[in-house]
Amino acid sequence: MSNIVQQDILQQLKQLQKDAETALAHAKSAEATRNWYSEYLSRKGRLTGILRNLGSLSAAERPLVGKVANEVKAVLENALQERQAAIAQAELEAVRRAESIDVTLPGRPQNLGKLHITTRALRDIYAIFTAMGFQIYDSPEVETDEYNFQLLNMPPGHPARDMWDTFYTTTPGLLLRTHTSPGQIHAMREYAPEPIRVILPGKCYRYEQVTARSESMFYQVEGLAVGKHITFSDLKGVLINFANQMYGEGREARFRKSYFPFTEPSVEMDIACILCNGKGCPICKYTGWLEILGAGVVHPRVLEYGGYDPTEFSGFAFGMGPERMALQKYSIDDIRYFYTNDVRLLERV
Ligand code: DAH
Repeated sequence: MSNIVQQDILQQLKQLQKDAETALAHAKSAEATRNWYSEYLSRKGRLTGILRNLGSLSAAERPLVGKVANEVKAVLENALQERQAAIAQAELEAVRRAESIDVTLPGRPQNLGKLHITTRALRDIYAIFTAMGFQIYDSPEVETDEYNFQLLNMPPGHPARDMWDTFYTTTPGLLLRTHTSPGQIHAMREYAPEPIRVILPGKCYRYEQVTARSESMFYQVEGLAVGKHITFSDLKGVLINFANQMYGEGREARFRKSYFPFTEPSVEMDIACILCNGKGCPICKYTGWLEILGAGVVHPRVLEYGGYDPTEFSGFAFGMGPERMALQKYSIDDIRYFYTNDVRLLERV
């Protein structure tokens, strides 16, 4: 009786090996082999299931069954290893095939990045002024009323303050600078009584209606030279040299009288319209001229606030709008494109 059971178990083991080998041949992935292992060889698997009947065998019958079971197990484990290696190899090859490079295909064009137009205009301006010996000086965007107005000769209540619609903060006396001119005071106070030549680039803010020509946030580049015997002709020489380099040699420029509380005399500079060359077009509003900056001879009181003795020192200053200049240089018809983040703008230059 016992012998029959033994035969039966051996038969089952044989059958199991056969089933397992067939199933393994069908396993096509690492996951399938893991499932296969759990079905046949794991502690809850079919092999263990068969061996559970060992108890019904006599002590003399067990060794043979145990030996056969171990052989089956060894054969299957071996087969599993081989199968896993084959699958890994096949997967690797599939990846290789998928990623293989066809060197005969035409290349894909690279999308090259470009500098923002404002950055380009600023860099052009830096290059021109640093070549003339100006240093680049940084100054804060959040300013005090004192620096933005008072030290520029605009005491509280001065009517000229109306030229700059201002964003005030909730802290009294603290505001977003409306122009880069307060940087003049910072620079002078740092260097006085040494002579200085600086440009002060940076963002400014105005509580103004946004239009095609003006944004409420924009850049300015301020310029300041202080020393002995500096005159209005130095200012003209520097600005004409600047315009020639920025817009090309020989472009006509003109100075118009103007008013700023921190300069006396004050002027504005126009250049002949880039597009129509002075003939008149929509960009220049049919005047033939484009205003590019305000400037003047530094007011003696401002020099004094900066720490210079106005009987000994004099200076000139200017403030330009690089975005306006870029609009003209690249024939862009609306300043609002600068901050709407549409990359098509960059394709236009
Ligand atoms: N700060 C003036 C503005 O924002 C521009 C300006 C005019 C700056 C004359 C100057 C200057 O330094 O001398 O409108």
